[in-house]
Amino acid sequence: MSLLVAVTGRNNEKLIAKLQSLLPNEQVVEWGKDVTTCEVEFVLAWNPPSDLWKRLPNLKAISSYGAGVDTLLAQPELPDVPVARIVDPNLAVSMSEYVLHAIGHFKLRFNQYLNNKNELLWKPRRVKAGNKVGILGLGQLGKQVAVKLKDLGYEVSGWSNSPKTIAGVSCFSGEKELTTMLESLDYVVCLLPLTENTQGILNKSLFDKLPQGAVLINVARGDHLNEADLLSALESGQLAGAALDVFSTEPLPATHPFWQQQNILLTPHVSAVTSVETASEQVAQNYHRVKQGQAIHHAVNQKVGY
Ligand code: GLV
Repeated sequence: MSLLVAVTGRNNEKLIAKLQSLLPNEQVVEWGKDVTTCEVEFVLAWNPPSDLWKRLPNLKAISSYGAGVDTLLAQPELPDVPVARIVDPNLAVSMSEYVLHAIGHFKLRFNQYLNNKNELLWKPRRVKAGNKVGILGLGQLGKQVAVKLKDLGYEVSGWSNSPKTIAGVSCFSGEKELTTMLESLDYVVCLLPLTENTQGILNKSLFDKLPQGAVLINVARGDHLNEADLLSALESGQLAGAALDVFSTEPLPATHPFWQQQNILLTPHVSAVTSVETASEQVAQNYHRVKQGQAIHHAVNQKVGY
């Protein structure tokens, strides 16, 4: 039995070394190197090649190398085996820090001061009024971001597919309640899983339900956003700004109009970066479970997509 690391687009040296140290008696192999595919029973994957799966006749389980599994589940030839994701409390910490910074960027007017600095302009302004933050998606990350912002004094609401209760956070669910929540927000944060139902949810119809001058923060997936609708909403002033960490095409192409938008804070998918340490520990544990014929931890429900 061996563990195949099919994590593309990054240097996996540390990851492989960590996994090998946790699984000293097992074969840890990397996609693209000399792999005996029939021995592979467990794959750790991130953007794996789509022709990978048919070469693995003995595959028993897959783990995403991240909190999200959408790109994995979208692979047409994904075999019918359990899929796990990484659940790391530290991801919620960095996600909360990112969201807080993104709010502050607009609330404290750092977006304007950055430009003023280029023009040697000393122009103090009051902070932007409004501290109502709505979180779309109250899963592992959304829930903890909501609680952290609430503890800092923000007026926080959250919206999820199924009804949730979080102390001190106003919780909404279902289509109608989404409209009610949006109507009062200063900041809307997308932390939804990407599914058929949530693809393109950040669109004109949603933006129009927000008060004029609200700010969008998307830290979920690029495909949640209708990019043309965002550009129009920024142009018309319906939205005052957006902080975007995720994009339909990553890396964002140099010709993309988002690069030129002064009111878009743009970062390269860094809001909650998987920790090599935590991911390796969870993968090693799941590998042992598979070997012993036990169910894996943090398995996703592949029908609902998260
Ligand atoms: C990052 O986007 C992840 O899904 O972990």
